[in-house]
Amino acid sequence: MIVTERAPGRPAPPTHTPVIVVDQAEARLGGRAIWSDVSLQIGPGQFVAVLGPNGVGKSTLLKAVLGLLPVSTGQIKVLGGSPGRHNDRIGYLPQRRAFDPTTRIRGIDIVRLGLDGDRWGTPLPAILGGRRARDARERVEEVIGLVGASGYARRPIGQCSGGEQQRLLIAQALIRHPELLVLDEPLDSLDVTNQASVSSLIRDISRTRNVAVLLVAHDVNPILPYLDQVIYLAHGGAVMGPPEQVITADTLSMLYGTPIDVLRDRAGRLVVVGQPDAHAEHRR
Ligand SMILES: Nc1ncnc2c1ncn2[C@@H]1O[C@H](COP(=O)(O)OP(=O)(O)O)[C@@H](O)[C@H]1O
Ligand SMILES: [Mg+2]
Repeated sequence: MIVTERAPGRPAPPTHTPVIVVDQAEARLGGRAIWSDVSLQIGPGQFVAVLGPNGVGKSTLLKAVLGLLPVSTGQIKVLGGSPGRHNDRIGYLPQRRAFDPTTRIRGIDIVRLGLDGDRWGTPLPAILGGRRARDARERVEEVIGLVGASGYARRPIGQCSGGEQQRLLIAQALIRHPELLVLDEPLDSLDVTNQASVSSLIRDISRTRNVAVLLVAHDVNPILPYLDQVIYLAHGGAVMGPPEQVITADTLSMLYGTPIDVLRDRAGRLVVVGQPDAHAEHRR
């Protein structure tokens, strides 16, 4: 199921060239298929969540998009090229735990690392000498301002709160003005208030800069109001569509091949009931 509707009130993207196209892809790890026959498409500026139980292959999907893991069947195109080809136009925040409290490196230095020749390869092109240093400083200050981290960016990152650390890491992912942000559980380990504020920060960046966002979430609720699409991974396959179509008892029961209930609690939060865990149900 591929649907490209946008959330109400969101501006249409200026171009329709897809940012990510996955076509009948399969990923294998350790000799077994993690997911198969996955097809999806993400357009510029779309905010998309990747959902599903632990171990189902959400991080694997992100790694395939980044070219860190080749798909065994099918094809993935990212920004019009093979996965990995345009990683300098992608901001990536891997799944992680909090920094150790004794970590001395300052937030601002963590942000700056996003510019330097890191594992994404190419450093900033064609900016020489003092001009290059000044440009780098300006970019660091710009993204720190953008995520609202000016007040603590010069503190050792180990002494920043979880929410502050996450904002600094998002600034690092944004520093090259990416067209695509790939965020692996960026809300994990944050309290409810910080989940809400980091979610709305990501939404604002996506809207104002027309950045497509592919975000793995453990709990869809903090981002639900902002999402254009969700990708639900289960049972070795995936369904993509608007949240109100995908996160339903009918769609999830079909995807899992077993009865699933979707309830709303008193606060209006969605609760998915009856998901088998990923290891128990996927046998291919
Ligand atoms: N290098 C590896 N070799 C074999 N199996 C792996 C490897 N990395 C991850 N897996 C397995 O692949 C499955 C999907 O992992 P992952 O994509 O990290 O899941 P998720 O992010 O949804 O929790 C898990 O069952 C995991 O144990
Ligand atoms: Mg993961």
